Amino acid sequence: MACLTALYALYVEPVWLAERRIVLSTSAGVCVVHITDLHYRGSRRYLERVVERVNGLDADIVCVTGDIVEELPYLEEALGILARVKRPMYGIRGIHDCWDAAAVVKIKEVFAATGGRWLLDERVLALDGTVEVAGSTASIGSLPRLVDSAAKVRLLLVHDPAAVERAGDVRFDLILAGHTHGGQLRIPGGGPIFDLPLVGKYDRGLFQTGAGPLYVNPGIGTYGVPARFCCRPEIAAIEL
Ligand SMILES: [Fe+2]
Repeated sequence: MACLTALYALYVEPVWLAERRIVLSTSAGVCVVHITDLHYRGSRRYLERVVERVNGLDADIVCVTGDIVEELPYLEEALGILARVKRPMYGIRGIHDCWDAAAVVKIKEVFAATGGRWLLDERVLALDGTVEVAGSTASIGSLPRLVDSAAKVRLLLVHDPAAVERAGDVRFDLILAGHTHGGQLRIPGGGPIFDLPLVGKYDRGLFQTGAGPLYVNPGIGTYGVPARFCCRPEIAAIEL
């Protein structure tokens, strides 16, 4: 039994994509699809399947909250696959994304070509001004305000969900985060098996915070142990 469980955790669950739909009560009529923590290491067919599933959802925009790769040589291939996303794609860097200047140029091009943007501590308007998208890798409070923004939805992308603790009086309609991977290995019906410091109290799922509703996605890839248990990789579709 233990052997079967290990095989499942190593080879089945890490590529068994889940789709999760969440409805928030803003009635803005906007659907945001969220993926995060790809940790792409050459599993081409898997990432292609992720993009196919993303494209099959009725998204208005697609958001990526970091950790696309851990090593620079994988970035070009990962971006080549992400370039097939057919909706405006917005993204921020995670803690493992270490790129040189040429890579930053390339990633900006790929996100811009979808109609979206790679966000470097900035706010932009999307969908003809309906949505304000902010991307923060530093202090949320330091994000510049947009002048005359009449956006119905204010969206924040952060990598580490703990950033909401430092938001001060800034408030958003939705905050998207990754980073925790949901702990990757969880007790059935319970929390993470290992109390890793990166998981923290915002481990996975929807939380109501002082900065607004926070959705923590357990991610697409794995870090460290290439296994998942009771923590399937996820594509989230959030309706606002
Ligand atoms: Fe990650």
